Amino acid sequence: MSASRPAAAAGSEIAAVLAAAGPELGHQLDRTEERLSQVAGSHGATLARHASGTLAAGGKRLRPILVFLCGHVGSRDGERLVAAAAAVELLHMATLVHDDVLDRAALRRGRPTVVAAGGRAAATATGDLLFSRAFAELSSTGSGEAVQALSSASSALVRGELMQRADAWSPEVTPERYLERCELKTASLFEAACRLGALFSSDPAPADVLGRFGARVGLAFQILDDVLDVEGPTARTGKPRGADLLDGTVTLPLILARGRDPDLGAVELRGTATDPGRSESLCERIAATGALEDAREQALAYVSEAKSSLDALGLPEARRRPLDLVADAVVERYA
Ligand code: FPP
Ligand code: MG
Repeated sequence: MSASRPAAAAGSEIAAVLAAAGPELGHQLDRTEERLSQVAGSHGATLARHASGTLAAGGKRLRPILVFLCGHVGSRDGERLVAAAAAVELLHMATLVHDDVLDRAALRRGRPTVVAAGGRAAATATGDLLFSRAFAELSSTGSGEAVQALSSASSALVRGELMQRADAWSPEVTPERYLERCELKTASLFEAACRLGALFSSDPAPADVLGRFGARVGLAFQILDDVLDVEGPTARTGKPRGADLLDGTVTLPLILARGRDPDLGAVELRGTATDPGRSESLCERIAATGALEDAREQALAYVSEAKSSLDALGLPEARRRPLDLVADAVVERYA
């Protein structure tokens, strides 16, 4: 069975990456998609329904793209790169399914979440399945080092998630703590994607540089995701405006806004969950402080840092340009 890439992956910014990288990247992404479909369909009808729905909901497949670009797509060990790309995406999907259970989220990417459609038990099991298959995929490469890299990223994700739970509703979260949390819960998987690519290329030496590039891109991605949560609207984000505020998640826009608007500092977040009108007006007040522009600036600075960190590798233009374009794609998604 041939699986096609989700429509979202054909967004113009990703199309530019595909054009710059050449047809081999598209071919590898198609193979990854086929692999993901096979995995989703191989563990019983109920799990297939939930896992396939998660797959079909799309996403830009940024992490698989990073695996291929850092693995020097087309000229390396294609089979192992596809396994690594599928593993990283499966882990990412597992975290989203579990995150939606924890957040009691109703919508993701404009569709009902697994927890909304099938309940907590089905969503927990679906996330577990995706998580376990991620490691099965990666073990097919025969590389203990690769499994170790993904395991470290998973542990970081969990630590980041626990930190976020510990910080829920808190009026005292600092920008530094927020950034540490983002490094753990988001940047670590972007970093692992780049490291895995480097590991399966013929030249694993730049793994540290590429890993750092991925981590900076991931940090920018999370900050912009948090900006968009406050900015909305639902038609653009596929989830309710202010969803983070509704579940007590204190993000950079709120942290910066609190420093500027003393009244906001005193606002009690609890209670917004039962009053969507209040979370809407809270989003407006955060935006009015200019915090969204400042948070976006910080994200852009991480994107620039990511791109200039690649200078150390002296890559030929054909390899460098697609990597720069992936970093730009993270920003353009929010333009
Ligand atoms: C989405 O971020 C969630 C994450 C990046 C990580 C979630 C991690 C866990 C649930 C724990 C680890 C789970 C496994 C399976 C290892 P977000 O909540 O900021 O974004 P959203 O607005 O898209 O929900
Ligand atoms: Mg969430």
